[in-house]
Formats: sequence, structure tokens, C-alpha cells
Amino acid sequence: MNPEITIAPLPHVAVQVFSETSQVVAVIEEASHDRRMAKAHLRIQAGGAPAAVEAYRDAPTPNVIVIETVNGSRSLLEQLDELAAFCDEGTRVVVIGHVNDVQLYRELMRRGVSDYLVAPIDVVTFVRALSEIYANNTSKPLGRVIAMVGAKGGVGSSTLAHNLAHTIAREMVVETVITDMDLPYGTAGLDFNQDPPQGIMEAAFDPGRVDNNMIERLLSRCGERLQLMAAPSSLDRLYDFQADTFDPLFDALRSTVPAIVLDVPHVWTGWARNALVRADEVVVVAEPDLANLRNAKNLIDTLAAARPNDPRPRLVINKVGIPKRPEIAVAEFARALDCTPLATIAFDPGHFGTANNNGQMLAEVQAKSKANEAMLEMAKTLMGREAAKVAKKSLLSPLLARISSLRGGKAA
Ligand SMILES: Nc1ncnc2c1ncn2[C@@H]1O[C@H](COP(=O)(O)OP(=O)(O)OP(=O)(O)O)[C@@H](O)[C@H]1O
Ligand SMILES: [Mg+2]
Repeated sequence: MNPEITIAPLPHVAVQVFSETSQVVAVIEEASHDRRMAKAHLRIQAGGAPAAVEAYRDAPTPNVIVIETVNGSRSLLEQLDELAAFCDEGTRVVVIGHVNDVQLYRELMRRGVSDYLVAPIDVVTFVRALSEIYANNTSKPLGRVIAMVGAKGGVGSSTLAHNLAHTIAREMVVETVITDMDLPYGTAGLDFNQDPPQGIMEAAFDPGRVDNNMIERLLSRCGERLQLMAAPSSLDRLYDFQADTFDPLFDALRSTVPAIVLDVPHVWTGWARNALVRADEVVVVAEPDLANLRNAKNLIDTLAAARPNDPRPRLVINKVGIPKRPEIAVAEFARALDCTPLATIAFDPGHFGTANNNGQMLAEVQAKSKANEAMLEMAKTLMGREAAKVAKKSLLSPLLARISSLRGGKAA
């Protein structure tokens, strides 16, 4: 997976910045609103390296100290050495400098500085530098979260989410988890013809206990590289969660599987909004009518504002061409939302209905179809890469996939 497109959210860490210029302050202030910084506690103070030395002479150091320097390298190195004398173990230092100097870079790395960024910096570079300090360095790939939501109920968002996950697993040869967040009514179990005993319920009602072992237990396999975290689909309980209830689940999934598709129900609660805001990619599914247009616009605008450093939410127009239904033309619909649809999928009750009734995926019902092609294009864009070349034709593909996953999960 291209490391440029997935930046892991920071854990609960304290980050103290000692700035020297207003450009850096402005960028870091903007970065503090980035979704990946939501758990980090970031503070900015002026004064650069000398202020940092002063601040920590008698005080404990935070997890990360970011020092901006416009000075020459000698005084910076001296000040860093002084700072090192009273840095707590585990404190990491990131330096933002104004010269692109290889010699200085080497000196800093030798002193254990985590990163050296050359100003002017941008938000994503800064967030990535902090994220990489804590990104897990094992060979396991970092999970990419794709959240799908409908602009209205019943538009086909769950069906497309399930088929997207199936396509990513099958065509891109990537281990994938489909997570059904529609706890009372979810259909993932039905669509994959599974009746898993447990699922997202335990993670939702006991988030403090969620870890990688628990995740393993909550997943059920429904394809060679596809696992399902099913909803209870029962009305025995009420599902009034806190906004951050699912955060431990997302964190654990991200650290264990490379692709996570969230089937987010059409509700606007704290936890649903949170799932959409924290995802790496958001897909809004809409039918071409007026209420969908209004809702899709609200969703896309609101989420784009909450995720200013991420790709805009993508639009999929589904069920196009229902007989006798007056529709807003696709081009007009897209223009009103100022975006190019990621996919436009025709109303095809035969294909979709058979898949529904049989508990099958679209590609299992019919090997070749426009809907499958659309699904593959979506998968490629959302995963930021091409489909695996070996996946389609070679008889060796399952073997190759197994070998690559044994080598560290970087299949294909
Ligand atoms: N392109 C399509 N052509 C025909 N039928 C479709 C199409 N897309 C989805 N459907 C059908 O529409 C119905 C509703 O789909 P689905 O449950 O995925 O919608 P949803 O947006 O998740 O709804 P909910 O708001 O209940 O979560 C299903 O029966 C599905 O098979
Ligand atoms: Mg649904």
C-alpha cells in the first residue's frame, strides 16, 4: 500500500511546540484540527530551542517536543544537547528548520531526533511526521478505513459496502474486514449468508476491553481474504453510544488488517459522525432525486469541513434508471455537488435481487457486469492502487497471495 495515502491517527500523546515563526504556528494550529490529531494534546509556545531548554530544566517533558529553529546549526545542536540532559526517557524530538542541510540532518539523526522538517511546512507533512513516530513498525501493513453511508435510507449503501469489501479482498488480494455498524438492522450477515454468533456488539458495549485478541474473536471469515464483523440485528437493546465508543475498535482493526470497510447506517449521531470523520475515505451513496441531493450536499460539505486535509467525500450515484421514476440527470446531480462521481450504478433489480435472496455477492451471481466493473474502479481509487495483476487469471494467485501474506501480509 502506498504509505503516502494513509496516515495513522496519533495516540493520546502530549505534543509541545516551541515555535519561532508565524508560518509554522499557523500550520500547526491548523494541524491541531486534523482528525488524526484528535487524541493528541497539542500546545504551542514561542521561543524555539532556548524556550524549550528553559521550560524543561525543572519540569517533566511531554511525549513529543517540536522545536522550530531559524538559527544556525551550531547553536541548535548545543541547545539540543542541553535539552537532552533533562529529557525524560521516551520523549521524542522533531525539529523544524529553515535550511535544507544534509550535514545538519545527519547530526540530528545521530542525536536521536525523530525527524527534521524543512520550513515552510504543510499540515499533512507535520501530521505525518508525528504519526510516524508512533506508527507501528512491524511488517504488518497499516489499515485503511473506508466508510460508506447513504444520503437517504435504502439507497443501497450497505449492499455497495459489502460488495466493495468483497472486491477489495478478491480483486486486490488484500485482507479486508467489513464492519456492520447498523446494529439494530444490519444486513451484512444476510448478504454474506452467515450467522455469526458475535460481532460488533461486544466491542460497542465494552470498548475498554477491545484489543487485537478480542477483535479476532469478533470476526467471522466469509471469504478467502474477507472477514465480517456482524451486527446483532436485534432490538433487544438500545444503541445510544458515546461519540468515541468505536474508537478502540477502529484502532485495533487498523493495526491488524490492511483494509476496513465500514457500513455506516443513515443516522446522524455522535458515533456515526465520528466514524465518518475518522475514516481515511468516505463514500456517500445517493439516488438521483431531490432529497438525496440535499442530504448528499449537507453530508459532503459537513464532512469536508471536518476533514480539511483529507480527500473530499466521494459520491456514488446508485439505482439510476428506475423505470418511470423522474430522476435528476447524473451530470446535473454531480454538478450541483461540484464533484465527479466515483461511480454511477444502474438500477438492476434482477442482479441485485438475486444476490440478496441467495446471500451472494454481485460478482458471484454474475461474473461480468457493469456493477462489478464499477465496484473494481471504486476499490482501486479508494485503496489508492491498481488491482493485483495476478489476481484475475493466474492459477497460482491463491498460492502467491499466501506466500506474500507469510512474508508480512503485503499481499500483491
Ligand atoms: N443498483 C441497484 N439496483 C437494484 N437494486 C439495488 C441496487 N442497489 C441496491 N439495491 C437494493 O436496494 C435495497 C436496499 O439496499 P441496502 O440495504 O444496501 O440500502 P441501505 O442504503 O444500506 O439501506 P438502509 O438505510 O436500510 O441501511 C436492497 O434490496 C438492495 O439489493
Ligand atoms: Mg444499510
